[in-house]
Amino acid sequence: MTQLPLPDPATLPLTVLGIESSCDDTASAVIRHSPPAPPEILSSIVWGQTDLHAGFGGVVPELAARAHAEKIDHAIEAALVQAGCGLGDLDAIAVTAGPGLIGGVLSGVMAARGIAAATGLPLIGINHLAGHALTPRLTGDTAFPYLMLLVSGGHCQFLLVNGPEEFTRLGGTIDDAPGEAFDKVAKLLALPQPGGPAVEAAARAGNPARFALPRPLLDRPGCDLSFSGLKTAVLRMRDALVAEAGGLRASDRADLCASFQAAVADVLAEKARRALALYLERQPPCPVFAVAGGVAANTPLRRALEQVAQEAGARFEAPPLALCTDNAAMIAWAGIEHIRSGAPVMQEFVARPRWPLDHNAAPLLGSGKKGAKA
Ligand code: KG4
Ligand code: ZN
Repeated sequence: MTQLPLPDPATLPLTVLGIESSCDDTASAVIRHSPPAPPEILSSIVWGQTDLHAGFGGVVPELAARAHAEKIDHAIEAALVQAGCGLGDLDAIAVTAGPGLIGGVLSGVMAARGIAAATGLPLIGINHLAGHALTPRLTGDTAFPYLMLLVSGGHCQFLLVNGPEEFTRLGGTIDDAPGEAFDKVAKLLALPQPGGPAVEAAARAGNPARFALPRPLLDRPGCDLSFSGLKTAVLRMRDALVAEAGGLRASDRADLCASFQAAVADVLAEKARRALALYLERQPPCPVFAVAGGVAANTPLRRALEQVAQEAGARFEAPPLALCTDNAAMIAWAGIEHIRSGAPVMQEFVARPRWPLDHNAAPLLGSGKKGAKA
């Protein structure tokens, strides 16, 4: 009997369904990739829960899990309809298996398991952070190894992305993530949530040099970061201004926002400079510095990081915002990367609330306090 050659996983045309529910976005997407053509995002459904949690000052895990459980099937159906696909057109399912709020993660994993059991499709459990970290390869022709700064509401880390499942963490926050700091500063200044866009908007009219806020950890070597002291410094300034004038003038608020944003930008830029130096020691053939996460939407911050990349001779890669924030296209893409790497597809995996990308890196003290957002 002649044996048919097995298809090469590196070039096989693939259509993969992605499912994401690890925080406060219920998301599903379909990606088709037929090399050498670039990957196509056939659909990407993201249903946020901002309104649901608005009154609570943060994501409420039980509410999030219930909302995911109610909506995930509909999000998957919507993604398939928008993509013009049936389940029979799929080659695999990729689902976020962590890190994140375990109730939410389980909603996605159970839905994915149900479809896999009914169809016999291979099921791949994806690390949500790997989804973010691999996005520059979905949106651009980015070769390994590249440097990635993940800056979101729950995470802040510099990663060397060496391969689809091979990451080296160069440094990260030892307390709050920058998005968390933006959100807390917005709250301190009675600005709406999410705080990042509100602080950025207020900062446009402000003077970034008026308040001398600290630049935490710049006096220490390495790429670790800290943002909680910065937020406390804003609180003290606010209280001093209120005590002095009996209230906060619009100009004070704008100046505080601008000064805070400038401090975050300075810290991230200097740490990025150091991370780039470590990355360039490896002499990558086409150096790339990529960013992802909601905070990467901040224009002055993005500009500062782009300049650092330029100075170091690296290409700056910032995926479109819809792919920087939580979405399922990045999960489907990470599934495609997994299949192409030739790694075995494990049908059985556990959902994990914590799941560091770099198993060799020491845990960062206090990092991921918020836990919910990744
Ligand atoms: O990646 P993301 O959508 O969710 C996770 O954290 O997973 O990021 C949301 C965070 C929020 O903390 C939000 O305030 C922040 O990103 N953010 C911004 C801006 N837009 C969103 N921070 C600074 N400037 C912005 N323009
Ligand atoms: Zn995320």
